[in-house]
Amino acid sequence: MNSIDNAKSTERPDGTPSAVRAMERGMVDPSEAKRLVEVIIKNLPAPVPGQRPVHTLGIGVTGKFVASNVARTYCTAEHFNGKPVDVSVRFSNGLGGPERHDGWSDVRGMATRFHLSDGTASDLIATTLAEFFVRNVEEFFGFSEVATLAPYQRETWWRKLGDLLQLKVPRRNPYPSETKSVDAGALHYADQHRFAQLGIFQVGLIGAPVSYARAAYHAVHTFWVTAPNGVRRPVRFSWQPVAGVCNTDPLAAPRDDYLRAELRDRLRRWPARFMLMMTIGESGDELNDPTKPWPGTRIRIAMGTLTLIKVAEDQEKAGERISFNPNRLAPGIEPSEDPILKARLGAYEASREMRGGCPFKWRPDDAK
Ligand code: HEM
Repeated sequence: MNSIDNAKSTERPDGTPSAVRAMERGMVDPSEAKRLVEVIIKNLPAPVPGQRPVHTLGIGVTGKFVASNVARTYCTAEHFNGKPVDVSVRFSNGLGGPERHDGWSDVRGMATRFHLSDGTASDLIATTLAEFFVRNVEEFFGFSEVATLAPYQRETWWRKLGDLLQLKVPRRNPYPSETKSVDAGALHYADQHRFAQLGIFQVGLIGAPVSYARAAYHAVHTFWVTAPNGVRRPVRFSWQPVAGVCNTDPLAAPRDDYLRAELRDRLRRWPARFMLMMTIGESGDELNDPTKPWPGTRIRIAMGTLTLIKVAEDQEKAGERISFNPNRLAPGIEPSEDPILKARLGAYEASREMRGGCPFKWRPDDAK
């Protein structure tokens, strides 16, 4: 056992979800939360009233999660006890705005809600990006000042060659109907901030999946899980598609709208499956910095299988009006001190209020 494994739980005397404790301790700054949403709105295509400012276009799916036999030995959270748990998943395209460009290179989202027996839930929000591009709120605001929506033009071949010679990622060509983009500003930010490079360069090369069920999704932040014997471990979660990862041909003309139809068609024929993988951090691993990967040699545990059964009939209820939050965690899982994870607690609540999403009870005695 390493020294991190030996850290025993000193908190959680009453089983109160950590997000509720954070809210009660006044750890959420409402004006900062609102400002975070406002800078997103300022920088992306104008949001549709009542819809999310980012990850605007999505599809809600229902399914079941069954934990593996080893999962419960690492984490006491209810959804890891081995009994089947109902799950709601919303897949999304990363960009804001009402236009659907499924075939464009873009980050994709997979927000998962595990429905627990007392009516509360545990959420896990992940994207196809393995590392984030800023480490804290100040850097997020700094990034937002540079990565603004600006006219997007094709780079000449000699400019691309110049970029390559300077070890910079050249800009991709604009898509046929694409006139504005944040990409040029984001690349400029990456050129000036080393910590941002891994995340931003990944975004540049991320492509478009052939199916929402054929992409791997990463929750990026570190969480702490508590085992039945009280041992706490720092972990990172990701979803691996059982069907394998597959992107569209980047040289073919992009299609506008295929991901929802593909998923409906796929699930009509057969369920889609994902494995939930949990990587265990070791001494020296960066616990509070989502821009830093952990070494590929870390132990990974298969925590369970998610079976997606059908596209929800009521898309408003089972997708659009849901408000996920990465800090809504079952007892047994706690957020790390990652400043971005903390900031998301308030930002997602602010966004939910602004768009009229469904409030959700954080603990059994809260009003629905
Ligand atoms: C400072 C950092 C971040 C801010 C300010 C931010 C902000 C937001 C906001 C305001 C929403 C809409 C929430 C709603 O209305 O329900 C959202 C959605 C989303 N974000 Fe973030 N985000 C941040 C970082 C991240 C990271 C690191 C990830 C990846 C793990 C992520 C993945 C997602 C996904 C997948 C959705 C869509 C969730 C859904 O379908 O409801 N975000 N984000």
